[in-house]
Amino acid sequence: MKILVLNGSPRKGNTLTAITAFADAAQINNEVEVVDTYKLNIGPCMGCDACGCTNGCVATDDTNMIIDKMVAADMIVFASPVYWWGITAQMKLVIDKAYCKGAHLTNKKVGIIIIGGASVDSEQYQLIRGQFGCIAEYLNWDILFHRDYSASARDDLAKNTKAIEELKSLL
Ligand SMILES: Cc1cc2nc3c(=O)[nH]c(=O)nc-3n(C[C@H](O)[C@H](O)[C@H](O)COP(=O)(O)O)c2cc1C
Repeated sequence: MKILVLNGSPRKGNTLTAITAFADAAQINNEVEVVDTYKLNIGPCMGCDACGCTNGCVATDDTNMIIDKMVAADMIVFASPVYWWGITAQMKLVIDKAYCKGAHLTNKKVGIIIIGGASVDSEQYQLIRGQFGCIAEYLNWDILFHRDYSASARDDLAKNTKAIEELKSLL
């Protein structure tokens, strides 16, 4: 499979650790590309509807580049820290801009990795799970995995050997 991993974290910390564990294993049988969303030059969706959900965005920033990568992928992995009970703004920007080719983003395989400082029984993980569940239903996505991890300091997840082993065996 062609797998696109969207990294929602702006720091070299737990999300990158999770992505690296996942990608190192996944690349054995798949083509994996990781994109750091914080490095993208993307403005917010202005709701102009010029795209009609099929034509791409009128913006001349990185929007069409990243959305075309999503369209071309067999599988999209969303990996994000929790910021204020939700995914990061960087990740949400990409998801909002996916509207410009939403009609071409159906039937994807999807993976979701969420990392927050709070313990995994916190309501925040259910909120995020609910949001991705609704998007998946709308676009007929097949969610292959959705994992939540609790990690706060940037090296916390790296010390969690059980989590790292699990991330290596998600596919
Ligand atoms: C702006 C900001 C908001 C945060 N909000 C939450 C939150 O609502 N819930 C939570 O559990 N952790 C929250 N955190 C902690 C991060 O989710 C946590 O440190 C995570 O491990 C960061 O991932 P990273 O190391 O990949 O950047 C927040 C951190 C920042 C910087």
